[in-house]
Amino acid sequence: MRGPGGLGGLVALPRLDLCEKPSPLQHAPRLSARLGVEVWLKRDDLLGPAFGGNKARKLEYLLADARVQGADCVITCGAAQSNHARLTAACANLAGLDAYLVLRSMDDPAEQGNLLLDHLLGARVQIVRTHRTANLAVAMQTLAGRLRAEGRRPYVIPVGGSTALGAVGYAAGLVELDAQSVSAGLEPCAVYHASSSGGTQAGLAVAAAALHAGGRPWRVIGVDVDGDPDGLRTTVTALARDAAALIQSGDPPLVPAVDPAPHVRVLAGYTGPGYGIVSEEGLAAIRLLAEMEGVFVDPVYTSKALAGIVGAVRCGDLPHGSSVVFWHTGGTPALFAYAHELAGAG
Ligand SMILES: Cc1ncc(COP(=O)(O)O)c(C=O)c1O
Repeated sequence: MRGPGGLGGLVALPRLDLCEKPSPLQHAPRLSARLGVEVWLKRDDLLGPAFGGNKARKLEYLLADARVQGADCVITCGAAQSNHARLTAACANLAGLDAYLVLRSMDDPAEQGNLLLDHLLGARVQIVRTHRTANLAVAMQTLAGRLRAEGRRPYVIPVGGSTALGAVGYAAGLVELDAQSVSAGLEPCAVYHASSSGGTQAGLAVAAAALHAGGRPWRVIGVDVDGDPDGLRTTVTALARDAAALIQSGDPPLVPAVDPAPHVRVLAGYTGPGYGIVSEEGLAAIRLLAEMEGVFVDPVYTSKALAGIVGAVRCGDLPHGSSVVFWHTGGTPALFAYAHELAGAG
């Protein structure tokens, strides 16, 4: 365990080393030529174990905290195809903790994609019949109570690992991108990413506020994938303020005391029919990135964020010749669980 960890050693928060950083920052020449803007890929899909993804950055802090608190197992929740659950199971294995996953599905979910990997990782999976992820919090507490009664010491991680502590991982992520951009010759520009439970965007907003104050004006745009942009903005703003308070309490603090709220930008209109349902624009984005760059995005999150970039080019929000970073947050194992919707498409 590293401590004081993360953020260049500037914050006295314990952190486990669970992924090799920095994740690659790659120019996408063929996609750039096609879109008429310079597209860079921040490859967090390559970050961490078990097919990687954005949760690895959060879990470095969350699982370190679990260890500090003396936990011997972790509980988390999500949809049956949750990338967060899969990465929690994998990272818990690395941290020597047992993983319990409380997943929602209205029917018997196919043993494919993330769920298949959860089982191969040895996680204990409980399926709850509900539409709403919010209902899983109760099931997690019930499970935690049962485990405590058995003498275990569970650490409960909320959906998406989206706590202030988890968000710190993404504040460090934008600082990492800023450093990489200098050697790549990339000026601060727009950064698009998929946003759902809000922790990723909250961390990015905290660092965007600090870097902006220091003359590095990154513009972070979270693409709403749940169809609730107002709710997302509220959640991200609250998480960002809490994460900023956590970081600013460091000695010395990572960031000056800047309110991250003005840096919370949510892009609506790319959810399509709903969370977890393939959208027409998303499907086109999957094919576009695969054909141009040989890189896959997933049907639930990253394809919709990439569709947001394509839409922003079309409507002029991203002017011809400007630069944009597509922050690839992972999720690709879910492709296989959507074979039916994706096969033969296009
Ligand atoms: C692949 C992928 N991208 C983006 C997100 C959104 O991240 P957050 O929940 O921190 O908003 C998730 C969340 O599960 C995800 O799995």
